Amino acid sequence: MFLIERHDVISSTNDRAKALASEGKRNICVIADRQTGGRGRMGRSFFSPSGCGLYLSVAFAPEVRGEDSALLTTYAAVAVWECIRELTGVTADIKWVNDLYLHGKKVCGILAEGKIDYTTGMFDYAVLGIGINVKKTPFPDELAAIASDLETETGVQIDREELTARLLQKLAGMEDAFRTRTFMETYRKNCFVLGKQIEVIRGSERFEAHALDVTDRGELLIRIGDGTQVLQSGEVSVRV
Ligand code: BTN
Repeated sequence: MFLIERHDVISSTNDRAKALASEGKRNICVIADRQTGGRGRMGRSFFSPSGCGLYLSVAFAPEVRGEDSALLTTYAAVAVWECIRELTGVTADIKWVNDLYLHGKKVCGILAEGKIDYTTGMFDYAVLGIGINVKKTPFPDELAAIASDLETETGVQIDREELTARLLQKLAGMEDAFRTRTFMETYRKNCFVLGKQIEVIRGSERFEAHALDVTDRGELLIRIGDGTQVLQSGEVSVRV
């Protein structure tokens, strides 16, 4: 289980959780009502106004090898997917590797960070940051077309405390789940990029590929021309 540290406002719960982890704290959860510097992948910001979302980061020491780090994100995505289904009855779509969508709009983003011990190849610590747009959220114009919240998309008013409790309970089961990896079935079934033509952005590279599968390590298996490759990280968008 996680010890919870709550803030009305903070720059970023991931930054705070990383600071605690680097002081040696583990199994701690930082939650904020508002973030002034909420961060996403690829240096993007995560809109985090007061009274709207669940913004939390857990710091722990997962028993997975550094090269299996995509599993942290895929597990968290399935945990959020299950919470949404249990609380609203609605099935969300997962975009490899870290986003959840409802009706084509992003409602959740996940940011995994960590420190690997190079002598063992294992995580010294990992920080898993999860941002869920729960209540009706006043998105700025540039986000309104691509992002939404659970209340708008499902019509269900979710209690953020109940969502927090459910999510933390699922995250506490992560180590057991890594042994069997059965959660990857739910991930694959709901990952809408599979079978689609996609554009991959990896560092400064951009290329077209066909998304074939997600491996048991959370990597995306893609076909490029006559060959296949596995992506451990990167950003993909579906070509329409
Ligand atoms: C993404 O969209 O690329 C990931 C977004 C992750 C946002 C969450 S909100 C809680 C935690 N604190 C942060 O600064 N980021 C994550």
